[in-house]
Amino acid sequence: MTDQRPAAYAGPKRVFSGVQPSGDLHLGNYLGALVKFVALQDEMEGLYCVVDQHAITQWQEPAKLTAQTREIAAAYLAAGLDPAKAIIFPQSAVPQHTELAWIFQCVARVGWLDRMTQFKDKVGKHKERASVGLYTYPVLQAADILLYKATHVPVGEDQMQHLELTRDIAAKFNHDFDAPGFFPLAQPVAEGPGARIMSLRDGGAKMSKSDSSDQSRINLTDDADAIAAKIRKAKTDAEPLPQTVEGLAGRPEADNLVGIFAALSGQTKAQVLETFGGQGFGQNFKPALADLLIARLAPVSARMRGFLADPGQIDQILADGAERARALAEPVLTETRRIVGFWPG
Ligand code: TYM
Repeated sequence: MTDQRPAAYAGPKRVFSGVQPSGDLHLGNYLGALVKFVALQDEMEGLYCVVDQHAITQWQEPAKLTAQTREIAAAYLAAGLDPAKAIIFPQSAVPQHTELAWIFQCVARVGWLDRMTQFKDKVGKHKERASVGLYTYPVLQAADILLYKATHVPVGEDQMQHLELTRDIAAKFNHDFDAPGFFPLAQPVAEGPGARIMSLRDGGAKMSKSDSSDQSRINLTDDADAIAAKIRKAKTDAEPLPQTVEGLAGRPEADNLVGIFAALSGQTKAQVLETFGGQGFGQNFKPALADLLIARLAPVSARMRGFLADPGQIDQILADGAERARALAEPVLTETRRIVGFWPG
């Protein structure tokens, strides 16, 4: 009997990830994405994109968009990405992304996109007023990843459904065009307590740039006083901290704060509770959490300001990254065009 399973991808391991330049970065972006980018850069070749084409799926002031693109690049560098190893670039500087996205729009099915929960959450009751780009957003995301045949994608948990779609598109493309193993089935890198950081005001909602309350998030640019005040006011419940992880069940705010502490200190939640279990939140835990946040974020924010003081250097890094990205992208796209049957074959 012949083996009917599709051929596995046999290419090298490679990382791709992206962040939208659509507002200030917060603790969720830092723990869910940037920290993982830095940890992976020594393990595999990696591309770290500022996804400005994704950002314009919702209105962005043109002058602000350029500045925010430099800010995300500065945040990547400040978190510890090294442009000598990592390829840092703006999505719009590599037009191959949108060309591959078009081909993928013809592979993905409307039914697949109709299931995307992020789209539904963002548009609420007013789907007809959303941009078409917001609807096809996950297809462009699949193109970002597969244009470089990336195998590993460090992201927060909110991106899992988009990564499933990316794998569905890769598998359908490989199957429909009889190109087994051409595109890899990229895997998320999203484990650990940093993958899902929730709002400080509501443990049931994720920490987000678009939350109208600034008290709901720690921004990378917040100073020590702002961080301390936000943690002091962070919502908790009336019970003391539990002694065990099981005791966090049904207590989303407590779970979130303990998770943040664990992610920042490199401990497990159980270890954090060994220290603070049984105590009230305000007693030692919240002050220690604020100190930890300040100690971790203040140097990142200072380095970010340092990079932003020299936009010429950032632009040089982005231009160099875009050139390296284009050199990797072009052969994949040329082969894709040939597989699809575009002229001259
Ligand atoms: P974006 O810009 O919304 O967020 C950037 C990264 O931060 C993560 N993140 C979080 N992680 C933990 N807790 C949170 N509260 C939290 N909020 C955000 C996100 O999961 C993400 O990793 N669609 C992507 C951008 C993108 C992309 C890509 C990512 C475009 N193309 C290709 C990976 C690969 C997004 O909206 O990220």
